[in-house]
Amino acid sequence: ANTMDRDELLFSYKGILYPVTVCSPEVFKAMESLEARSDDVILAGYPKSGTNWVGQILSDLVATFEKKTQDEESVNDEDLEEFPYLEVGDAGKFERMNRLPSRRVIFTHLLPDNLPRSIFKSKAKILLLIRNPKDVATSFYHFSNGMSLLPSYETWDDFFIAFMTEKMPWGSYFNYLSEWNKYAADENVMTITYEELKENRALGVKNIAAFFGISLTEEELQGVVERSSFQSMKENSLKTHGALGSILFRKGGVSDWKSLFNEDQNEKMDKAFEEHIAGTKLGMKLKY
Ligand code: A3P
Repeated sequence: ANTMDRDELLFSYKGILYPVTVCSPEVFKAMESLEARSDDVILAGYPKSGTNWVGQILSDLVATFEKKTQDEESVNDEDLEEFPYLEVGDAGKFERMNRLPSRRVIFTHLLPDNLPRSIFKSKAKILLLIRNPKDVATSFYHFSNGMSLLPSYETWDDFFIAFMTEKMPWGSYFNYLSEWNKYAADENVMTITYEELKENRALGVKNIAAFFGISLTEEELQGVVERSSFQSMKENSLKTHGALGSILFRKGGVSDWKSLFNEDQNEKMDKAFEEHIAGTKLGMKLKY
């Protein structure tokens, strides 16, 4: 956790708060120069909804497909890679991304209004990942306190208030869901929930591959499924995520919110969910 004053640690861009330690207004401005492509593979998800998990699945699907369809030389070498989170990096990142070969895999926590317009113009396919807000809050609380780039919270009660009053890095999750809900019926957008993927990873991987037009054999798909288990990702985390891995792969389950929420907080969140999300397409998809 970062002990800097929370108000100083967060800056506002187009009405949404971001941590100065991770993002900057310059990077947001430069982002408009990204030339999106129709074959970009885009993963959109609010922090702590399982971005690294589904990101691993997407990167693995693309890499497995490329390995069998491209000749050695044209396979993307590591020097040509960019950190997959769109909004994290330096302002020169987008020019470099424009020179990367297809298919690019891009992760983002941004609201649709903060994304470069070319993403929507290009009809690039977007996988939208959502998770039960109670588990998102629980995961975010532990992660914030474990990670030096994010604000710290003295108590869970303190965090809960910030989560419910929209004073969060990357904005309010309820707002995130209502904004993305406007795109949920688009044909280039597929929604997947953390919970359905947890329940049946093999089916989830298959559906994701089909949506992006990545055709693999049963055996190749099975490999992607195995490599994306919580156990396997946790074991590999030092290699894939360095020290961050030990706080990122925390529990990887459903309903851990029960260990933190009190009765009153539970009611407050149910009420907010009912008011803002329950009746929407995304709200109906969320197992709540
Ligand atoms: P918990 O904190 O509830 O354990 P993000 O990648 O968006 O930051 O999300 C992190 C959450 O995804 C963490 O939730 C983490 O444990 C979970 N996660 C990561 N890899 C996973 C996997 N292979 N299977 C299930 N959950 C996973």
